[in-house]
Amino acid sequence: MIILKSRDEIEKMRKSNRIAAEVMAHLQEMIRPGVTTGELDRVAEDLILKRGATPAFKGYQGYSHALCVSVNEQVVHGIPGTRELKDGDVVGIDCGILLDDFYGDHAWTFAVADVSDTARRLLAVTEEALMRGIASAVTANRLYDISASIQEVAENAGFSVVRDYVGHGIGRSLHEDPQIPNFGERGTGMRLRTGLVMALEPMLNEGKHDVEVLPDGWTVVTKDRKLSAHMEHTIAVTDSGPEILSRL
Ligand code: MF3
Ligand code: CO
Repeated sequence: MIILKSRDEIEKMRKSNRIAAEVMAHLQEMIRPGVTTGELDRVAEDLILKRGATPAFKGYQGYSHALCVSVNEQVVHGIPGTRELKDGDVVGIDCGILLDDFYGDHAWTFAVADVSDTARRLLAVTEEALMRGIASAVTANRLYDISASIQEVAENAGFSVVRDYVGHGIGRSLHEDPQIPNFGERGTGMRLRTGLVMALEPMLNEGKHDVEVLPDGWTVVTKDRKLSAHMEHTIAVTDSGPEILSRL
């Protein structure tokens, strides 16, 4: 069931998503060799609580951290801990927020110091794929126009899109309908309507699209152990076009 949001509800989602963006901006400044993924998580939780919000992932299906932190071949759902970032890593940070009954969801992947040309290109193309997906989220377009735009950017650059995880509607639940795959056929899917709020989150792989879950039950990695990047914005479809809520 798709739940369209009123202007007031979108205003609330602006607030929760703005916190996600603030946290991300703060964490970005912390990223350097030697920082542990657990330190990022601790700082994030602190910032979220200080703003009167709740870390949405903590307690979600038994997950026990504020962030997912996914390094290199880790696609999503990496568990923060004692691992130190090192020069040349790419680190994906995913942050969920609950404020005043509405969720925010935002992720970005960053370079740690000097990364390979391939890594740099993967990050740039993932951002471009997300932005082109967002640009397709306009009233009267179809849902899989978004998917097709993302896929086109990724594959034209020689990367693959992960099939097993998707973007999602978001609101009073972290995950609502519809699901938004990062691949699909233009001109198909439901018609987009004003008030639809979605978390779009392309995951792009350097190599093949296949992924697997590590024995920890959470960490998703590429099967070929090549690099992956994940970027996510929560956006609202409005009468004046897509609005990115998870941005400063
Ligand atoms: N950020 C993920 C999503 O966008 C959810 C994280 S799973 C959790 O759907 F368990 F860590 F919360
Ligand atoms: Co999400």
